[in-house]
Amino acid sequence: MKRRHLLGLGLLGVAGAWALRPNDLGRPYAPYFESLNTQLKADTDGLPVLLLDLDRLDQNAEVIRRLLGNRLQLRLVVKSLASPGLLEYLAKRLDTQRFMVFHQPHLNQLARSFPQADLLLGKPMPVQAALGFYQQLPRHSTFAPDRQLTWLIDSAARLQEYAELAEALQRPLRIALELDVGLHRGGFADARSLSQVLQRLQRDKPNLHLQGLMGYDAQVAHAPPWISTTEAFAQATARYRELLSTAQGFSEIWPEQPLLNGAGSLTYPLHSQLETPLNEVAVGSALLKPGDFDSDLLQAHQPALWLASPVLKVVDGALPFVQSAQGLLEAWTPNRQQACYLYGGHWPAQPVAPEGLAYDELYGRSRNQERLISSHATRLRVGDWVFLRPSVSEGVIGEFREIRLLRGGQLVGRWSTLPSV
Ligand SMILES: Cc1ncc(COP(=O)(O)O)c(C=O)c1O
Repeated sequence: MKRRHLLGLGLLGVAGAWALRPNDLGRPYAPYFESLNTQLKADTDGLPVLLLDLDRLDQNAEVIRRLLGNRLQLRLVVKSLASPGLLEYLAKRLDTQRFMVFHQPHLNQLARSFPQADLLLGKPMPVQAALGFYQQLPRHSTFAPDRQLTWLIDSAARLQEYAELAEALQRPLRIALELDVGLHRGGFADARSLSQVLQRLQRDKPNLHLQGLMGYDAQVAHAPPWISTTEAFAQATARYRELLSTAQGFSEIWPEQPLLNGAGSLTYPLHSQLETPLNEVAVGSALLKPGDFDSDLLQAHQPALWLASPVLKVVDGALPFVQSAQGLLEAWTPNRQQACYLYGGHWPAQPVAPEGLAYDELYGRSRNQERLISSHATRLRVGDWVFLRPSVSEGVIGEFREIRLLRGGQLVGRWSTLPSV
């Protein structure tokens, strides 16, 4: 090929690559966040904070109420809504006193704050943690664990430990059996292993009172492409039904009004729309809709939780050691024109406001001062607040001392939080 042609092709290639340059993604705050930025600047202790939009929370609660109707009871998942104020608000609004608990200190706190609550463990507690609950329960507490608390049993060995605990405490313990309906996170997966513990319960009559079953089915929402969600749902509910019918066979110990718990935020819409063996669903995250819950089934839900952090520094976008390449990098993308540093960081969260902020993959993350890059179009200044959307609420809420509440876009109050595990 002639050199002239080669040169032509080369120039075409460069022009093509140039045409693929990223657009400027930066935007100033949208009005909702602009107003929050102004409010936080005027009313703050200068520390990163969680914000909860109560209007959006109400709308999410309404979606759940509508979908469940009076066909299915609701149990609030405490680890995903880890704030006594938030739980109390939702319990009233959704008319439930049922809570699913995953952490022994939360159990004791709930027994104090909600003495009328019905508590079900969402995971099997080490028997020492269960003992700790009774030791820390105030002597004159009006919460009555023998009627209001159900421990979770996932194996014959755990059943034995809890039988010994009941014996040592000289009090009855309520239990539910954890089923493996396809998640493969432990629990009873087949009729044989389930029958063994039921036989033991029926034969030896330890001071353990069977309440029912719990089978969580998050795998249904993550089924691989060759299995449809409805097929995955059908498989999980078929397993639940089979194990339920095994349990019903033990009529001496099977309760008249069994607890048949299952589902979570990702699958509760399926249980509310299709035939299900459950009589209650556990839901937490869908009320706040963090990023990991952006799914087709939760389209009617809206994000309600934000994390806000003050900007400590705004600098040019240069990287250490390669400052001289900054001109080239900026020529390639305007989204590296500047970098800002936040108070804190490394949260499981994505920046959402102002638009066009991104983590810098070339620089890395920081728990102390997170770096975000953007174009100048964000107009971000030191002292402004950056808003991030958490990907999960579990574990994040407890990292903050309090949640600040928004009504009509205005800061109107605060709720304290429960500590994370
Ligand atoms: C046993 C169990 N039920 C329900 C849930 C659902 O919680 P969420 O609604 O917050 O996803 C979970 C979450 O991990 C769980 O482990």
